[in-house]
Amino acid sequence: MASGVHEQWSSRMAFIFAAVGSAVGLGNIWRFPYMAGENGGAAFVLIYIAFVVFIGMPVLMAELTIGRRGGMSPINTIKKVALAAKKHPRWSWIGGLGAFGGGLGLLSYYSVIAGLVLAYIIKGAFGAFSKFWADPSVAGLTGDAANAAVRVQSAAEINTLFADPAMMVIWHLAFIGITVYIVARGINAGLEKAVTYLMPALFFILLILVGYSMATGEFAMAIAYLFEPDFSKVTSETVLAAVGQAFFSLSLTVGTMLAYGAYLPKTISIHKSAAIIAASDTGVALIAGLAIFPLVFAYGLQPDAGPSLIFETLPIAFGAMPGGQIFGTLFFVLLAIAAITSSISLLEPAVSYFEEKQGMNRWKSAIFAGTAAFTIGLLSVFSYNTWADMTPLGFIGITEINGATANFYTLIDFTVANIIMPVGGLLLAFFAGWVALRKDMMEEMGLPEGGIFEIWHVLVKYVCPPVLIFIIISGLT
Ligand code: TRP
Repeated sequence: MASGVHEQWSSRMAFIFAAVGSAVGLGNIWRFPYMAGENGGAAFVLIYIAFVVFIGMPVLMAELTIGRRGGMSPINTIKKVALAAKKHPRWSWIGGLGAFGGGLGLLSYYSVIAGLVLAYIIKGAFGAFSKFWADPSVAGLTGDAANAAVRVQSAAEINTLFADPAMMVIWHLAFIGITVYIVARGINAGLEKAVTYLMPALFFILLILVGYSMATGEFAMAIAYLFEPDFSKVTSETVLAAVGQAFFSLSLTVGTMLAYGAYLPKTISIHKSAAIIAASDTGVALIAGLAIFPLVFAYGLQPDAGPSLIFETLPIAFGAMPGGQIFGTLFFVLLAIAAITSSISLLEPAVSYFEEKQGMNRWKSAIFAGTAAFTIGLLSVFSYNTWADMTPLGFIGITEINGATANFYTLIDFTVANIIMPVGGLLLAFFAGWVALRKDMMEEMGLPEGGIFEIWHVLVKYVCPPVLIFIIISGLT
C-alpha cells in the first residue's frame, strides 16, 4: 500500500476495543501490581493516577489527533504534520524512535513474559499449583513454615522453566507467531476481529476473578494496601517509575496510538475515546490489584516480590485455594488475552511503515518485523539462564539497576520504560504543543476554541514538557 491508504476501523466500538485492548495488557495485570508492591503500594498508586490524568491523557489525545491528521504510519504521519506546519521533516524521527526502538524493543521481551504466561496456562490446567502443597517437604507444616516450604516448590517450578532456554524460546516463538498471524491479516480481518472476541472475554474473566478474590481472600487488606498511602516511601525513582508505567500502560510513545489514530474515522470523538481508554486502563489495573493482593495476603505472602509476584507468589495461593486449579488457570488465560491484544499493537506501527515505505505486503511486513522482535527477544530469554549474570554495560560500571542485575533483559526494560518512554512522551507533547499547528490540532479534534481544547493545549505545551524533563533528569541521576 505505497499510497499510504490504510484500512479503517469499521466502527467506534471496534476502535475502542482495539485501543483498550492495546492499553490493557501485561502492564496492568503483571507489571502494575508488582510496581505498586515494590514502590510502597498506595503512594505509588496515587502518583500513578495523577500522571495518567495530567500527562498520560494529554499525550494520548495528542497521539490520536496527530495520528488521524497524518493518516499514515507513525513516521510518515509525523512528517506530514510537521511539514503542514512548515517545520523540519526530521521530526519524524520521534515516530522512528517509537516504532523501532520502543515498539519492537518492547515487543521483544513482552513476548518472552507472555510466553511464560502461556506455559503457566498449561501448568495450571494440569494442577501444578496444588502439587506444591502436596510435596513431602510441606507435609506436617503449618503457617509460615508451610508457606516457606511451598515457596521453595513454587520457585523451583518457575526456575526450572527459566533454566530451560529451549522451552523459553519455544513459548516466545509461539507468542510472536500468534501476534504476527493476527497482524498479518489486516486491521479489519485481523486486529479488529481478534479484539471483538477477546475483549469481552477479558472483562468477563476479570470480574469472575475479583469476585472469587473477594469471596476467598483478604479483601480489606488489599484495599488498604492499594489506597492508604505512605508517602515516606516515595523517592525520585518512584516518580520516574510511575511516569514510565503510565506511558507503558496507556501504550504511549512508541507509535501504537499514532497508528491506531490513523485508522480512526473522522466522525469519532477523540477526547471522549481518550477518556474511555484511560479510565478503562486504570480501572483494570486497580481491579487486577484487587484480584491479586487479597490472595497474596490471605496466605501471608509478600506483596513486593517484584516481577515474580505473578509467577511465583500467586501460584502458591492458587495451589491452596478451593477451586484454585480452575481459577488459577483462568487467571493465566486472562493474562494471555491481555497480552495478545497488546502485542498486536506493538507490531502494528513497524508493519504499517514497511507497507508504505517498501511497498511490502502485510504478510511480508509482519513476518519481517516479527522476526526482528523475536531475535532481539532471545537476549531476554538468555538473561534468565545462560546470561543471567552477564552485564553488558559492566565495562562502564553499570552492573545493577534498582537492585536487579543489569543483564540484557533488565537493561532493555529499563531503557524502554524509563528512558525511551519518558523521553518519547516529552517529544510528543512538545511536538503537539509547539510544532504542530494549533488550528490543525483543533480542527482534527473537532473541538471549539477554549474549554477542553484549551486545557489540552496548555497541558501539552506548558505542563508536560517541564514536568517530564524534571522527572527524567532527577530519576536518572
Ligand atoms: N499497554 C500495554 C500493557 O499495558 C503494552 C503495550 C502495548 C504498550 N502497546 C504499547 C506499551 C505501546 C507501550 C507502548 O501491557
